[in-house]
Amino acid sequence: MRMVSGNSTVGLVTACFILGSVLGCSETKPASVSRAEDTQVESSSHTTANQQPGQLPALQDDAARLAKPAAGEAASTDVRQVAHEEPSNGTSTVAIERELFQGWPKPDVALFLTGEQHGYIEPCGCTGLANQKGGLMRRQTFLNQLRDDRGWDVVALDVGNQVRRFGRQAEIKFQTTAEGLRKMKYDAIGFGPDDLRLSIDEVFAAVASEDPDNIKFLSSNAVLLDYTPRYRVIETGGKKIGVTGVLCEKELQRISNSDVGLSDPVEGLKESWQALKAENCDLYVLLCEGTLSESREIARQFPGFQLVVTAGGAGEPELKPEVIEGTQTRLIQVGTKGMYVGVVGLFNDPRNPIRYERVALDDRFKDSDEMFKLLASYQQQLETLGLSGLGIRPQPHPSGHKFVGSQSCAECHEDAYEVWKGSKHSHATETLVHPPERFQVSRHFDPECLACHVTGWNPATYLPYESGYLGLKETPKMHNVSCENCHGPGSAHVASQNGDGNFTAEQTALFTEQMKLPLDKARDTCLKCHDLDNSPDFHVPGAFDKYWDQIAH
Ligand code: HEC
Ligand code: HEC
Ligand code: HEC
Ligand code: HEC
Repeated sequence: MRMVSGNSTVGLVTACFILGSVLGCSETKPASVSRAEDTQVESSSHTTANQQPGQLPALQDDAARLAKPAAGEAASTDVRQVAHEEPSNGTSTVAIERELFQGWPKPDVALFLTGEQHGYIEPCGCTGLANQKGGLMRRQTFLNQLRDDRGWDVVALDVGNQVRRFGRQAEIKFQTTAEGLRKMKYDAIGFGPDDLRLSIDEVFAAVASEDPDNIKFLSSNAVLLDYTPRYRVIETGGKKIGVTGVLCEKELQRISNSDVGLSDPVEGLKESWQALKAENCDLYVLLCEGTLSESREIARQFPGFQLVVTAGGAGEPELKPEVIEGTQTRLIQVGTKGMYVGVVGLFNDPRNPIRYERVALDDRFKDSDEMFKLLASYQQQLETLGLSGLGIRPQPHPSGHKFVGSQSCAECHEDAYEVWKGSKHSHATETLVHPPERFQVSRHFDPECLACHVTGWNPATYLPYESGYLGLKETPKMHNVSCENCHGPGSAHVASQNGDGNFTAEQTALFTEQMKLPLDKARDTCLKCHDLDNSPDFHVPGAFDKYWDQIAH
């Protein structure tokens, strides 16, 4: 039986969601019992009288409403997520195991939906494996579980945007990711605006496959060198699935790359839709690089797509697909940083043809060997190229002073030095050389790690200042998070206090003044490195005092 089809007589897809009762009681039931139900979108047996064959039946009012979960409900679905972002007691791990896909029969086909990786091929290494979500290594383990352990037919689709910066490192990352997606046998991958801001030769090299008929990267309105396809039709599990991608207006504006053939989103999509329609697919999926409102708008213009997978929305995707007002299209978010996978099951069951579950890539999923090797080879490439090979040039520090290293401060500020020596800041570079986790791979060649773990870099730009760290051997005094990461470069202060050079008393006083960091201004300095990703515990009320206590001097 076909599920959805332009001309089939059977295409009854989801009528209304029967989530009302589930939501109503999720607060009173123990989390472990109610959560599985919360994460599913199930259809009920209600069908409406005026259904057309091949059309999605109208949804009842409350179904549309229920498609947007209430804030409190998210908490019951993913306790660890909430603990991660709003820890209440500084210890952020709440491990509650639960079975995935409770109540699901084996689907005919499962869609595995990801996107917006934003450069996080591994989750940041800073918060401990238990707190991390995402990464290609866990993603592959999950995918293999579905394919191999459960024996499901999986179609893997990615909306796009693998990177978030540009330059050599981002290019290597894009290539690494493309390789990973190939190894994971993705079926279709959209282009995101950040992908297309990279050098097009590099993107092309990563995208091109030996078989020109089998290129997985696609877009209706961004074509690389007349080579990449606009759409694909995937046949598996007895279903024919038509997929295309689109970059909406705001995303297009971010690309100024004359080598990419860009066109208007609506015009581009019209063309793909005509071609896809002629293929008579069972299901049409649009991978949409756009904000939520852009995605809704384009879905209304092209109601033939039953699923629109959007790059829009917050880091944590909504628990359930939204039914776009005025259509029967479901909008599925992928979140950001590759932390979640959306799984859509398609069933040959007219009462329950489609289900959805949002899965957090947390430490239930161990690292896959294949992707771990990819990570190692990525770090190896960074090492081989070195900072200069990555195009990294030291920038002048706005103060005009140079970094001299903590040892230079020790003779005059002995007490402060002893406190610092005993703090974790004094081993921050060693942490990258011998990481406590995924320890087989050192990260001290990776600018995106170095920026906060050495002396004399700008954590916001991932670039060194002149006289800052350039290598373990090259700049031995610039290891670790030093005095100067907080107080600023000390060359002039040290020289003037030592009586080197001809400084006036005013200059000496000025340089000393410049070193001061009043406690009430210090938090902003900490936050440059202790950001939400790398130091979530720093973001709970009262955290600054606790952290400061550990290093007070
Ligand atoms: C040769 C001695 C000497 C060296 C080396 C030295 N300082 Fe100082 N530092 C001083 C003196 C003297 C003062 C002024 C103390 C005062 O006015 O109370 C001072 C003041 C400071 C202050 C301001 C303290 C306050 O009153 O708030 C800071 C911060 C500071 N130094 C940091 C550093 C750092 C960081 C280094 C290493 C890069 C360093 N100093 C190296 C001698 C030195
Ligand atoms: C240049 C980046 C940077 C700045 C600025 C910074 N830190 Fe850190 N901090 C780190 C890094 C990196 C670590 C982890 C070091 C390690 O263990 O490898 C760390 C660790 C710590 C720790 C140890 C936490 C633990 O898990 O035990 C404390 C406490 C701390 N920082 C306090 C502060 C405070 C307070 C400030 C601001 C006054 C601050 N830091 C500013 C980078 C920074
Ligand atoms: C934006 C700044 C920043 C960046 C970039 C960064 N870190 Fe960190 N890292 C920190 C801070 C701050 C801490 C301390 C967190 C805490 O204890 O609250 C930390 C802690 C760590 C720890 C834990 C150390 C311990 O003592 O347990 C590891 C491991 C680590 N980082 C590895 C990495 C790796 C690998 C990368 C690159 C992928 C990286 N970091 C990039 C700021 C950063
Ligand atoms: C993580 C940030 C950070 C690091 C690293 C750090 N300091 Fe400080 N330091 C501060 C802050 C914030 C204050 C202000 C404390 C206050 O006003 O109570 C301070 C105060 C000081 C003072 C003035 C203390 C006083 O009240 O007389 C001196 C001197 C000083 N630091 C020197 C150093 C030296 C030397 C090092 C390295 C060995 C160092 N600091 C490392 C943040 C830091």
